[in-house]
Amino acid sequence: RQPVLVDCDTGIDDAVALLYLLSVPSIEIVGITTVSGNAPARACAINTLTVLALAGRTDIPVAVGAERPFLAEPRPHSVHVHGYDGMGDAGLPPADPALLDPRSALQLIDDLSCAHAGRLRILATGAFTNLALAVRADPTLVGRIADVVVMGGAAEVPGNMTPAAEANIAHDPEGAAVVLSAGWPIAMVPLDVTTTELLTEEHVERLTASGEVGRFVAAISDYYMNFYAPFFGRRVAVQHDALAAGILAGDVVPTVFPLLRVEVECGPGPARGATVCDTRGRHLGYPDDPDGNCRVALRTPGGFVDLLVDRLAAMG
Ligand code: BDR
Ligand code: CA
Repeated sequence: RQPVLVDCDTGIDDAVALLYLLSVPSIEIVGITTVSGNAPARACAINTLTVLALAGRTDIPVAVGAERPFLAEPRPHSVHVHGYDGMGDAGLPPADPALLDPRSALQLIDDLSCAHAGRLRILATGAFTNLALAVRADPTLVGRIADVVVMGGAAEVPGNMTPAAEANIAHDPEGAAVVLSAGWPIAMVPLDVTTTELLTEEHVERLTASGEVGRFVAAISDYYMNFYAPFFGRRVAVQHDALAAGILAGDVVPTVFPLLRVEVECGPGPARGATVCDTRGRHLGYPDDPDGNCRVALRTPGGFVDLLVDRLAAMG
């Protein structure tokens, strides 16, 4: 099984991504680190423990990571999207913090990268602060990682946290710049594709009629669907992070997935946090750029949420 470290800000769609990944037979989640974003990093870690307890996987270490960006001042947490507790304020009893791994996120990343040197894959579904700090602390980390898949950015569409910036990048543009240029094989799953994978009311009905996992996903999605309703004209839960997990796992194969030059705008102006992707080759079908630093999922086949709901429903 492929060892995967998940770095996340759990988070409603992060929670769904984790549950999905736990259902993939070829993947073994070997550790989870959390970062400030949807909620404080410590709250995200507690939420992660709740998800793991639900899945019966409290054996997976969860370490708290950065509460502040790599360089910048923090932005407010995304209470309007994910609730005060980061899990849609669904009234879930918080998990026991004593179950957190005593190591720092950086220590856990280092330990796992040594234990699985050359094989460890990373899925990042929050701001990239922990990964940026880890690379800066020890540049040899890059050589021990097989590949990195990140949910983040907006290639040819507007941002969501600002007109230019997607939330995971907006929370820490400088950290994102470090991670995207670190030299490891990295793939970005931007809003261009994640906003096409929508969990609908019909999916929620199916989940509610399934088992405990399905009911949990239905409960935490309620708040999130209210947030998205005005943007889509109906209540939907956008599966940003689960789509990135689906691409990492190979359940989703992007149909347009070029290697591109991607840079992050780190200036103070209105474009701060934009992922500037060189898509000038679009008329030629987006050829790979020999100077590219990041593969970018620009189109996906669609239909992943149906598979996702099947998997969640089957978890019992
Ligand atoms: C990303 O931001 C967070 O709100 C979500 O969990 C996702 O990772 C989408 O922009
Ligand atoms: Ca997230």
